[in-house]
Amino acid sequence: MSHHSVIELYTDLANNPDENFGWDKGLQNALNHDYKDEWIKEIPEKIWSYCAAVGNPFNAGKFSIGDSILDIGCGAGVDLCVASLLVGNQGKVIGIDITPAMAEKAKINATLAGLSNITVHQGSIDKLPVDDDTIDTVISNGAINLSSSKDDAFLEIYRVLKSGGHLYFCDMIKDDNNLEESCCTTESWADCVAGTLQSKELIKLMEKAGFVEAKLLSTNHYKTSASTVGATFSATKA
Ligand SMILES: C[S@@+](CC[C@H](N)C(=O)[O-])C[C@H]1O[C@@H](n2cnc3c(N)ncnc32)[C@H](O)[C@@H]1O
Repeated sequence: MSHHSVIELYTDLANNPDENFGWDKGLQNALNHDYKDEWIKEIPEKIWSYCAAVGNPFNAGKFSIGDSILDIGCGAGVDLCVASLLVGNQGKVIGIDITPAMAEKAKINATLAGLSNITVHQGSIDKLPVDDDTIDTVISNGAINLSSSKDDAFLEIYRVLKSGGHLYFCDMIKDDNNLEESCCTTESWADCVAGTLQSKELIKLMEKAGFVEAKLLSTNHYKTSASTVGATFSATKA
């Protein structure tokens, strides 16, 4: 699977947030995932229009003032802005996205929100431009399924986390209750369908990378096809 179709689709989203891509996005999407009112008020409305969240990683665990947070597949930076509010000026937030137009948009949106502790780099989840053992918490929202190198992705996340650091991520997974709906020929990879795994497969990959306490926390209403469902996971670096 080449990155080409992924970059093409998310360049389109970066340039046209109001276009209908066939899946939920925007402010209403954030509200449906229980993003808090105080974040909605604090972060400019325009930024919420890019919200392509498939869940709410901030419900998965604790975020503290002064923490360093890395968001993989940060898109236009909605979760970067929320993370920035949670860690305060003493903390730092790094965003990585493979789509140059998205990384650019995330930088613009961080400036628009007046949040100076956010830095953004264009890069791929399976080769993170981040030093070893430097991150308290890695978050991701709707991006890991888009990687064709998920083994490497989890190894990279493990590498950059500090010992005892956490991974909290939301992603589309194959719905265990609707596996027969999954075909393989016409499903779109870029729309978060063809690259999805079952929860048990994702947990196995996390454990293979060295994570402990890797678990599925919940599933939610978000759909990208009849055979997929939004889900939230957590794992810890031993
Ligand atoms: C569904 S969007 C979600 C964006 C953002 N997390 C949000 O909640 O609005 C998926 C994002 O993952 C990025 N992405 C896809 N594959 C990636 C990879 N291999 N490495 C880094 N980012 C990737 C895409 O460019 C896109 O911006």
